[in-house]
Amino acid sequence: MDDNRVIIFDTTLRDGEQSPGISLNTAEKLEIAQQLARLGVDVIEAGFPIASPGDFEAVRAIAREVDGPVIAGLARAQSADIERAGDAVRDAARPRIHTFISTSDIHIEHQLQSTRADVLGQARAAVAHARSLVEDVEFSPMDATRADVEFTAEVLVAAIEEGATTINIPDTVGYAMPHEYAAFLERLYALVPGLRDVVLSVHCHDDLGLAVANSFSGVLAGARQVECAINGIGERAGNASLEEIVMLLRTREAALGLTCGVQTREIARTSRLVSRLTGYPVQPNKAIVGRNAFAHESGIHQDGVLKERSTYEIMDAATVGVDDASSIVLGKHSGRHALRAALEELGFTVDGQALNTAFKRFKEIADKKKQVSAMDLEALVTDELRTEMASYTLEWFDVEASSRRPPHATVEIRTPDGDLVRGDFTGDGPVDAIFRAINAATRREARLREFRIDSVTGGQDALGEASVVLEVAGQSAAGQGVSTDIIESAALAYVRALTNCERKVALAAEAAQPELTPTP
Ligand code: KIV
Ligand code: ZN
Repeated sequence: MDDNRVIIFDTTLRDGEQSPGISLNTAEKLEIAQQLARLGVDVIEAGFPIASPGDFEAVRAIAREVDGPVIAGLARAQSADIERAGDAVRDAARPRIHTFISTSDIHIEHQLQSTRADVLGQARAAVAHARSLVEDVEFSPMDATRADVEFTAEVLVAAIEEGATTINIPDTVGYAMPHEYAAFLERLYALVPGLRDVVLSVHCHDDLGLAVANSFSGVLAGARQVECAINGIGERAGNASLEEIVMLLRTREAALGLTCGVQTREIARTSRLVSRLTGYPVQPNKAIVGRNAFAHESGIHQDGVLKERSTYEIMDAATVGVDDASSIVLGKHSGRHALRAALEELGFTVDGQALNTAFKRFKEIADKKKQVSAMDLEALVTDELRTEMASYTLEWFDVEASSRRPPHATVEIRTPDGDLVRGDFTGDGPVDAIFRAINAATRREARLREFRIDSVTGGQDALGEASVVLEVAGQSAAGQGVSTDIIESAALAYVRALTNCERKVALAAEAAQPELTPTP
């Protein structure tokens, strides 16, 4: 392994998926994993297989179908977790088990209600068990940055003795400062002689906005794997943002002498896909992938860039693929072949029935819009991925809206059991009326927590993309929908959020039964 090569470990589908309200189905996770492979990440942490049968299935599908990156499954330092993770990743060309246990006294005393001696024993046993299943084992001492460094070092010595190939140091609660984090790693190098023979990894959370700075500081201290997520999503304030780490390495390569294998032109597309499928918008001024990241507003800046781009730009937007899709435009006369070719160029392989469905939706949209752009196609295809077998589906709706009387909506919904149910409601506005009509039809007490509509492109005939977060029986989940009619996109998003909530309610009921499986 080249000493200057930084391994990019993507945890969008594991830590990222733990963000509140995100609930991706297997098809959506597979699509993201395929795109991560095109992006050229080295490792995909595909999920936490013991968390639920759905998580297990998704990790197994990714292990079987996604070529290129190492596929990792997460496991607590417990036998059942490790077996499940091993089963889920077994079919990958390069499987990895990532096992973890906390080394901070705060976690040991209050959460694990255990002792340092037990933690040491469990870490040793977990790594040995994982190594009996796969060659590639990563070990993380959780909450390491708030732990006693000597004790953490003792645990790492045991993990390395048992065959861990990567040692990851998580700043689980985003508490460290860059100089402190680097000093912690340097101290570990001094205390754990074997640390130089394995890959040292960093995993930083963004609670103080320092996830990227801490990760970078770790790299300067010698770490050669960075754990990060697209758009920086993750538990609470999120993880280090993959695109920021990668573009830092690329833009400052001459100063740093470090490289990574990411195809940076795939960054913008990956960011859009993750944002769309998770329902987590990207803030406009977000570094690298925000819509303003390469926009110049002030006259002085515009003048400078027109004269010479480098006056105010340190990166070329083309290197992150911002405009890569702009040449694709289809119209209502475009045929199936043109659609398939455009989708392939966008990275979607769509054949058979999926192509027929995509073509039907494309024609419906092309009848209403003069030009169907790459952005529209991406929105349309990802919208199809959201359609699940056992779900509520919107059959039809009527909404009467007027400034002279209250809006009234009637809907017909197909339930996950296949029954058709109808409901109607007179609401405060047309969106409120249709949402409550869906509650009436399905007899569900869903509470609306968030609602947003964005337009996919500019222009009056733009597609509307709605995102809804609902709460049912204490469980919240998001759903998204796309249509040229914003009432329809809102209703589609609502029924999908309802489906996702019900799935979470069922999972929570299952988890409450014999044994609790908390997420890391
Ligand atoms: O933040 C954390 O500590 C984690 C571990 C499971 C690596 O996500
Ligand atoms: Zn984490």
